[in-house]
Amino acid sequence: MNKVKLIRLAASALLLAAAISANAQPAKISVAVDQPGAKLNPAMWGIFFEDINFGADGGLYAEMVKNRDLEFPEPMMGWIKMTSNRGNGGELSILSEQPCNAANPHYLRILSKGGAPFGVSNEGFRGMGVSKDETYDFSAQIRGISGSPVLRLQLYGGDGALLDSVALTNFSSSWTKYTAVLHPKDTDSRARLAIVLDGKGVVDLDMISLFPRHTWKNRPGGLRADMVQALADMHPGFLRFPGGCIVEGPVLSLRYQWKKTIGPVEDRPLLINRWNTEFAHRPTPDYYQSFGLGFFEYFQLCEDIGAQPLPILNCGMACQFNSGELCPLDQLDTYIQDALDLIEFANGPASTTWGAKRAAMGHPEPFNMKMLGVGNEQWGQQYIDRYTLFAKALKEKYPEIQLVSAAGPSPDDDRFKFAWPKLRELHADIVDEHCYANPSWFFENTHRYDTYDRNGPKVFFGEYAAQSDYTVSVKNRNNLECALAEAAYMTGLERNGDVVRMASYAPLFANSEAWQWTPDLIWVDSLNVYRTPNYYVQQLYSLNHGDAVLPLKLDPPPGAKFYASATRNEASGEIILKIVNGDNTPAVVQLNLTGIGKIPPDSKMTVLAGDPSDENSFADPQKISPKESVLNVSGPSFQHEFPANSFTVLRLQ
Ligand code: AHR
Repeated sequence: MNKVKLIRLAASALLLAAAISANAQPAKISVAVDQPGAKLNPAMWGIFFEDINFGADGGLYAEMVKNRDLEFPEPMMGWIKMTSNRGNGGELSILSEQPCNAANPHYLRILSKGGAPFGVSNEGFRGMGVSKDETYDFSAQIRGISGSPVLRLQLYGGDGALLDSVALTNFSSSWTKYTAVLHPKDTDSRARLAIVLDGKGVVDLDMISLFPRHTWKNRPGGLRADMVQALADMHPGFLRFPGGCIVEGPVLSLRYQWKKTIGPVEDRPLLINRWNTEFAHRPTPDYYQSFGLGFFEYFQLCEDIGAQPLPILNCGMACQFNSGELCPLDQLDTYIQDALDLIEFANGPASTTWGAKRAAMGHPEPFNMKMLGVGNEQWGQQYIDRYTLFAKALKEKYPEIQLVSAAGPSPDDDRFKFAWPKLRELHADIVDEHCYANPSWFFENTHRYDTYDRNGPKVFFGEYAAQSDYTVSVKNRNNLECALAEAAYMTGLERNGDVVRMASYAPLFANSEAWQWTPDLIWVDSLNVYRTPNYYVQQLYSLNHGDAVLPLKLDPPPGAKFYASATRNEASGEIILKIVNGDNTPAVVQLNLTGIGKIPPDSKMTVLAGDPSDENSFADPQKISPKESVLNVSGPSFQHEFPANSFTVLRLQ
């Protein structure tokens, strides 16, 4: 062994010894079980959805055809010409005369000369995921112009093998919706859909669509079942949508407008996705919003998974990281009217203008929306001015709706410090705080809310995630260390549940082939989903939320990364302890529960543990996942050893 190696070995031995001695003295946790404190918001732990990283199109929205309406500015993006090697088989053109739909005017004309099959193929969202034994529903608006060609629909695998083929014939001379069913003979994550004309003739096509038959709740044209299942499994208290910066847009004309996302899908005009051009180092020129997942579908999703809807609307400000364009205050009425109309759309009776639109979409009952976000991550006096006008109009008509206001992108900078006193003065209901920082910030700030004003606005910790490298670095990882930092921080959120009413990790989804931002809670490709260690932390909090905070005294050994919170579940009488050991050595802890007689031996323990650098992946999706066991303790005072780098949930009867 050389000298350098020897020195390194000695240094690591010293570090290990120091760590062991730091944890040699047992930590103490005392919980006053009979003195429940603040009531927790039952909907405290929720989810933040944004159409970033192909979260909607190419993600949750199960449509498999990219640029189905040929409305991308480069109208053939996603499509390629398919011609046989027997020569020039025909011509493709994008036209807009006599369209099938004025909102999406462009369509594809295929002219086949008849010598050889000729047409197009669509690549999907970086490959179509098809599964053997699944059924896929094709549909398109088609108009026959001349001849009587056969239109063949063919699914090809990534290797070019034909997976299935069906034919359509006899096209009407006016726009008509045609459907067909495909059954691929193999599973393939990079399949393509080909549409070719056989025989001489001309055919127009628009709204060319392919959906798996099996979607969430098997709704035609619905959402990816596996992705929604991952959300449902979190039992989220609320769902914030549709973002994020996407709400703001880089300029006001490109902002998210909810009214353009409801009604028949073919009437929803396409919009460039704000993340299309945001990061030069992660370009996604094919990122557009079809709004197939629009506001009605978001509300429906909330209902499906038992989450309270929390829509966020543009407040007359474009993203301040982009143009920061402002709608003048005297022209804000349209924006405010959009907010008023949204409340009517969500909650109004079917006899109202906007309630009728909801009913026409199949939901006559109200969605029971209780919260509304005004602006995403805005800052400065411009925001305060706009929020003031929104709040006045909204509170006048709908005093029962809780408004979520913005405090900028950082948890402690000048923009944040400017916003809070102003919002307090305005008696804001809930302030949305955001934080993307490295794990140490989360470990070191668990006491952030201990000193918050109990009489002021409540807090929504609306976007946060520990960054293993730095914010927007492509090297950020969803590793256990970050997940534990978040779990530690969440003990502080929970202990302060009287002030912090809601919290959500961000962003939620990332398509592994087309992401712009990492880390993310759930990763997907065209066929698979995997849940990160961070997901499991969120899920464990949500599934073990308790109703009231219990006073907890923690005496960790000096320098230890050790955190805890306690709650009580009123219905079952269980005491729920959440404990994070962020150190590389196990921690022996003396737990004392006061005000309790005995503990049955069948208490449940769930542990998330591993190496700090461990991550899950498509190949190993369960590497870091919760492990359940029974905790054998005989009385209210007991010692327990918490593993190194672990998050533990104890449910004591
Ligand atoms: O979560 C990613 C982005 O981070 C959100 O769109 C924005 O609100 C924040 O800056």
